[in-house]
Order: sequence, then structure tokens, then C-alpha cells
Amino acid sequence: MSIKVGIVGYGNLGKGVETAVLKNKDIKLIGIFSRREPKDIQSIFGKVLPYSTIEDYIGKIDVMILCGGSATDILIQGPYIASMFNTVDAFDTHAKISDYMQTLENICKESNTLSMVSTGWDPGLFSYVRVLSDAILPDGMSHTFWGKGVSQGHSDAIRRIEGVVDARQYTVPNEEVKTKIRNGEQLNISTYDKHSRLCYVVVEDNADKLLIEKEIKEMPNYFSDYETTVKFVDLETLRKKHNKLPHGGNVIRLGKTSEDNKDVVEFSLKLDSNPEFTGSVMVACARAVYRLSKENKKGSITMMDVPLTYFIDKDRKEIIKEYM
Ligand SMILES: NC(=O)c1ccc[n+]([C@@H]2O[C@H](COP(=O)([O-])OP(=O)(O)OC[C@H]3O[C@@H](n4cnc5c(N)ncnc54)[C@H](OP(=O)(O)O)[C@@H]3O)[C@@H](O)[C@H]2O)c1
Repeated sequence: MSIKVGIVGYGNLGKGVETAVLKNKDIKLIGIFSRREPKDIQSIFGKVLPYSTIEDYIGKIDVMILCGGSATDILIQGPYIASMFNTVDAFDTHAKISDYMQTLENICKESNTLSMVSTGWDPGLFSYVRVLSDAILPDGMSHTFWGKGVSQGHSDAIRRIEGVVDARQYTVPNEEVKTKIRNGEQLNISTYDKHSRLCYVVVEDNADKLLIEKEIKEMPNYFSDYETTVKFVDLETLRKKHNKLPHGGNVIRLGKTSEDNKDVVEFSLKLDSNPEFTGSVMVACARAVYRLSKENKKGSITMMDVPLTYFIDKDRKEIIKEYM
């Protein structure tokens, strides 16, 4: 039996989820819901439907996969859709996740639905690894490095600024610091010192570049804490030189199991396509949400709240035989 899913929002991530569905035999895509005119959107294989018709699909879709932008879409769409469907999203404004979860918790409990929030790789898989390595090495410190790669959330946030036509934001890790940590040097260092941000921005002809640069650099939660460089380019250059969405990163925990013995735990990702990988995580999460909802679980949860065996399209006996 297939798990019936819908995609809400058809940007990079929406397309990534659609591609990921093709690799998962137990998942069936019922429709893609967009706020734009469906006839203007060319999808890969899914049927594009108007966002305004979403309520007609109550009872016909098991899990809605929310692919809107974290900057403005998800905080509006998440609560609305969770009042009708089980959901999975990739909300990645780290500072707002707790409040957002609480809002959904109340809605889901009232509506008998289940929402898995902030899935993907960070937050998501990286959060999972941070918890696991901290549990194993309580005497230690974890470090996260992102990139070099395009952050969809940060690029999306720049695109929302008035006068901006398009943008690509690269997160650049400080390789020197990373090497020191990998070699066991315990550095008490901020995220700001571990990364810088490089933005390629296309603006409208009459836009005030100085004002846009200031708005980017002072944007809280996104840029204000980082060394940020803004480079204005034309649309052709952006499309030619920055048309891919690679990303990746590392979670490294340095710990001590005794005074004389140090341990380094590292999990790393190197992704050709951030949205396709994030979409693949979301599809596995949709499977877990479906299974948990069949057990009458309600409310808002994260990936960390779910038994690992719920994510994979295999039965538990098979999993134990194959992976233990
Ligand atoms: N947790 C993680 O690991 C992780 C990883 C990657 C991304 N993310 C999150 O995913 C979010 C979505 O990223 P994204 O790259 O998919 O953003 P995006 O391409 O800007 O899409 C965001 C929304 O904008 C609308 N849109 C897309 N293309 C459009 C166009 N040509 N014209 C007008 N509207 C358009 C779509 O909604 P409609 O179809 O309704 O118009 C879409 O859902 C990010 O904000 C980020 O927070 C999280």
C-alpha cells in the first residue's frame, strides 16, 4: 500500500521532494500545491494544483510535505495546513523553532494531526547526530561547520528584500579552524568565527545597492552575526556561474572518555544538490509520520523523537538482520 503525499510550494525544495518520491516505491505523489497559476508551472511529473484547493484533499492525502520558504511562508502555511493534514516541513530558522513547535503542538492536538518540524539536514540529521554524540561523550564539545555551499534559506531571505531579483548565498567554513578541531584542539569558538557568508545578488535597475547591502548585512538570525560579503552581479552571470545548489558540512564532537583518552566523532555530508538531498530526508520523514499517525500519535515532533526504524521502507526484523 502506498503512502499518499502532497507537496506544498514548488521551488527548489518542492522539486527536490518530487525527485525523491521517484526513488521511494511506497510513496505516491497526489499533487503539488502552489500559490502561482498552475498552468505557468512546468513540473517534473506531479500534477500542479492551486493552493486554494488544498481543503478539497482532506482525507485523500496522508502527509503534506511543506516546501515553502522559512523566512515568511512556513510560519503561515505550517499552522494552516496542520489544522487539516499531517505535515513534514524543513523550517530552518533555528532561533524560532521552539515557538513554532509549540504553535503546531496546540493546533495538531486540536485537529488530531501530527507534524514533524524542521527536518532536512540542518536542522534535522545534524541535530540527530549532535544529540547522539553528546549522549555518548558528555565530557566534550560539538562543532558544526557548513559549506562551502549554497544556503537555500539565506538565499531565499535575500530574495525577499525589495529590489532584489535573485540571489545565491554561499556559506564558507574556516578550514584552518576545522583542521585544528579535527586534530583534537578544543577551541571555544563562535559560529561567526567558524564561517563567513558570501552573497551574489542581482537587483532591479533602479535599486539602491547600498541600502540592500545594509539590509542584508544587518538581517537578524541570518547575517548580522557573520562576516558577510555582498557582490552585485547581473542575472546572466548568476545563472551561468551559480546555477547549482551544492552544500554539505560536518558535525564534529571532541570528547574525553578518560583523562588520557580523547575521542573524535565526525559526521559529514557532501551534496551535489542540497534540495534533492533535503527532499530525500523529508520523504523518509513523511513515511515515519504516516506510521506514527497510524498509531494515533498527535502533536508536533522532531526527527529526534522517532525510532530510526520508522524512517525506512523495510520491516523491523529485516532491519535487525541486515544492519546489526
Ligand atoms: N532543514 C534543512 O536542512 C533545509 C535544507 C534546505 C532548505 N531548507 C529550507 O527550505 C526552504 C525552501 O527553500 P527553496 O530553495 O525551495 O526556496 P524557493 O525556491 O525560494 O521556494 C520557496 C517558495 O517560493 C515560491 N516560489 C518558488 N519559485 C518561485 C518563482 N519562480 N516565482 C514565485 N514564487 C516562487 C514557491 O511557493 P509557491 O509554489 O506557492 O509559489 C516555493 O515554495 C528554505 O527557506 C530553507 O529554510 C531547509
